[in-house]
Amino acid sequence: MSKSMMKAVKSVVGQKLVLHDLEKPAPGPGQVLIKVAAAGVNRPDLIQRAGRYPPPPGAPETLGLEVSGTIEATGPDVTQWKPGDQVCALLPGGGYAEHALAHAGSVMPVPESLSLVEAAGLPETVLTVWNNVFEMSRLKSGETFLVHGGASGIGTTAIQMAAAWGAKVYATAGTEQKCRLCEKLGATKGINYKTEDFAAVMQAEGGVDLILDMVGAPYFDRNLTILKDLGRLAYIAFLQGSKVEGDLTRLMLKRLTVTGSTLRIRTDDYKAKLAQGVVTHVWPMIAQGRFRPLIDQIFPLKEADAAHARMESGDHAGKIILQVAR
Ligand SMILES: NC(=O)c1ccc[n+]([C@@H]2O[C@H](COP(=O)([O-])OP(=O)(O)OC[C@H]3O[C@@H](n4cnc5c(N)ncnc54)[C@H](OP(=O)(O)O)[C@@H]3O)[C@@H](O)[C@H]2O)c1
Repeated sequence: MSKSMMKAVKSVVGQKLVLHDLEKPAPGPGQVLIKVAAAGVNRPDLIQRAGRYPPPPGAPETLGLEVSGTIEATGPDVTQWKPGDQVCALLPGGGYAEHALAHAGSVMPVPESLSLVEAAGLPETVLTVWNNVFEMSRLKSGETFLVHGGASGIGTTAIQMAAAWGAKVYATAGTEQKCRLCEKLGATKGINYKTEDFAAVMQAEGGVDLILDMVGAPYFDRNLTILKDLGRLAYIAFLQGSKVEGDLTRLMLKRLTVTGSTLRIRTDDYKAKLAQGVVTHVWPMIAQGRFRPLIDQIFPLKEADAAHARMESGDHAGKIILQVAR
């Protein structure tokens, strides 16, 4: 029997991203096959492409951590999804392709008010923010929240979700324009980290209850300085270094919690629990118009290389999306 083939993006360290033909995957137990409409581009894709973030065991080599599309087939024991359902999904990899496999528990319905293109930009960022800010660090309504990298895919999501939750939100970003964007999305103040000391600004504002950080080393001690009693500091990346130096006295006197996590290596069961939490708590924010994914630019799948160049430039704000089918 002849194999069914599909187009997917081929990633080789140091080479341009190009399309190649791959065998179309078939869903095994617990899996669904999605006919991909669009795929989200995330910073971890660029790091994987550079050879510094290998896919976990069993994950496809093809880049791509999130897609939207239509269920085409389901594995033998999958009962919650059926062919024709419009969905978005978190993937262990393989999203930059015409078809992708997802674990059934990592699949979510497309929120009613969103297009498939918008929905493609939700799973990776929303689950990461939900996990770190809401589940692990327990952001409460009325608390003060600071997100570094406020104009990123993660940042634009975190600002909107935290503001909708009733938190007072602050964000750092690298240009005045990006700072104003953060404010438009719900931040009380966008802080230009190139011209202002975020720690001085936040001290003047009375301190912070919770910080979501992707910058790492250079901000560690300043983060500890501005946290209030029982403050929390959550790491999802360390774009500028992971080896930190700081004064532990602050940790002890203020009873601070420093934590962090990475989503991709978590079990399918854990991701399924997160997805349920997101559908219960975040999808209503979208339905009520209090959160909408911010799309920076849409590229056709065959222009994945240009999409990565856009993210590499740092000029983007919000999510970059690959359109796979119309
Ligand atoms: N742990 C996890 O599970 C997980 C999951 C998804 C993503 N991530 C990580 O989260 C980060 C964001 O991902 P993304 O896809 O949203 O990428 P992105 O849009 O490229 O965001 C990177 C951001 O970093 C900001 N940044 C760089 N240096 C900064 C500094 N000194 N101060 C403040 N902000 C600074 C940039 O801000 P400006 O452009 O304003 O300079 C940019 O907005 C990435 O590092 C990614 O690896 C982690």
